[in-house]
This record gives sequence, C-alpha cells and structure tokens, in this order.
Amino acid sequence: MNKSYAVFLGWTAAICVALVGLQAALRPDPEVRHLEIFTEMAYSHAAESFTPNPWFADGKTQQALVAGVVPRGMLPFRYGTGPDEAKRAGVELVSPLATANEADAQAAAREGKDLYRIYCLVCHDARGNGEGPVVFRGMLPPPSLHADRARLMADGEMFHILTRGQGNMASYAAQLSRSERWAVIAHVRRLQEEGPQ
Ligand code: HEC
Repeated sequence: MNKSYAVFLGWTAAICVALVGLQAALRPDPEVRHLEIFTEMAYSHAAESFTPNPWFADGKTQQALVAGVVPRGMLPFRYGTGPDEAKRAGVELVSPLATANEADAQAAAREGKDLYRIYCLVCHDARGNGEGPVVFRGMLPPPSLHADRARLMADGEMFHILTRGQGNMASYAAQLSRSERWAVIAHVRRLQEEGPQ
C-alpha cells in the first residue's frame, strides 16, 4: 500500500467516525436536551403571547384591542342569525361585484365557479337543482336554487346565508372569505340565468 493511499484511508475512517459521533449527538430524543447551535431564533427575547408580562398593568402580554381597531381580514359582520337578519342584510348589503370592471367581474366569475364546485356542488349539484351526490346518500335535499325564493332573493340575503348559515346549511364564513362569498353568489346568479336544464 503506498503512503498517500494509507493517508486517504486514514482520513476517510476519521471522517466516518466524526459523522457517526455527530449524528449520535444530534439524534432527536425528546427526553434529552441536545447539542444546540445558533439558538437565537428558537429562544426569542420577545414576550410570548401567553407568558406573564411585567410591562403591562394587568401583567399579561396579550392586550385587548383598542376600541375601533379591526384586525386585518376580520371585518365584523354586523348581522345576527335568522331570517329577519338575512332580510336586513338583503336590503343593506350590495355585492362589490355590482360596480366591478369587466375584467374583475370575469375573474370573480371564474373563481366563483371553482369555489362553487369545491364547496356547494356536493349538496346543490353542478346546476343548483339540489340533487348533489350527498342527497343520494341520505342527506335531506336542499331547495333548488332555481326556485323563486332563491331567484328573487337579494344578493345580500344570500351573503347572509353563506355567512351565518340557514336551517340545515352551515355557515361557510370559515371556508370562504368575503370576496369569495360574493364570487360564489355571482356564479349562483349565472346558474340561475342559465336555468335548471
Ligand atoms: C351540506 C350540504 C350543503 C352545502 C355544502 C351547501 N348547502 Fe346551501 N343549502 C343546503 C340546505 C340543506 C339548504 C336549505 C337550508 C334550510 O333552509 O333548512 C341550503 C340552502 C341554501 C340557500 C338558500 C336557498 C333557499 O331557497 O332558501 C342558498 C342560496 C344556498 N344554500 C347556497 C349555497 C352555496 C352558494 C353553497 C356553497 C358555498 C352551499 N349552499 C353549500 C345544503 C348545503
């Protein structure tokens, strides 16, 4: 064996031993604290939400919102549940798409179609007749979206139904943002124009 080959083997063996040792030192075992490198990001100096905080009078980190502040994306919906509140929303709320330009309206229509197929089709079916797949598995059929009640319902009332739910239908406020709800409603209107078929 020539000398440089022996040196090469020696180094390879040493590196292998070092890697195995490093691996053992870093092996995740929830029972033991491990070798920690660069911990600045794991242990923040900022106060954590639920830890005591001496800087505030009540000693808590999380403070109530200042009156009038609306957290981003949490616009309050000032309507209660039930048909009377739905009617009130129908009178007061107008779809932002009513004044949208052509390009935005078309984008919303496409988005509404996708969202309808994801969230509504299972019960209301692709055309809105109320014969979605779950109905054939024993779920009570929803009313047709082509019936007079849904056709003549104001956009705002439909928005209220999607936001607060109605009877057997749950609220979709957690799944659909406000603009997505208006987009779905635009798609329901399109289905209604096309008719039950
Ligand atoms: C789990 C099944 C189900 C899903 C999913 C569902 N709905 Fe409904 N929907 C119903 C039922 C059932 C009713 C009737 C509720 C009642 O009045 O008891 C209803 C009622 C409605 C009404 C009112 C119809 C009327 O004549 O009063 C509208 C509008 C509506 N749904 C739209 C939608 C839209 C848009 C979606 C998708 C975001 C959707 N629904 C998703 C089951 C569903």
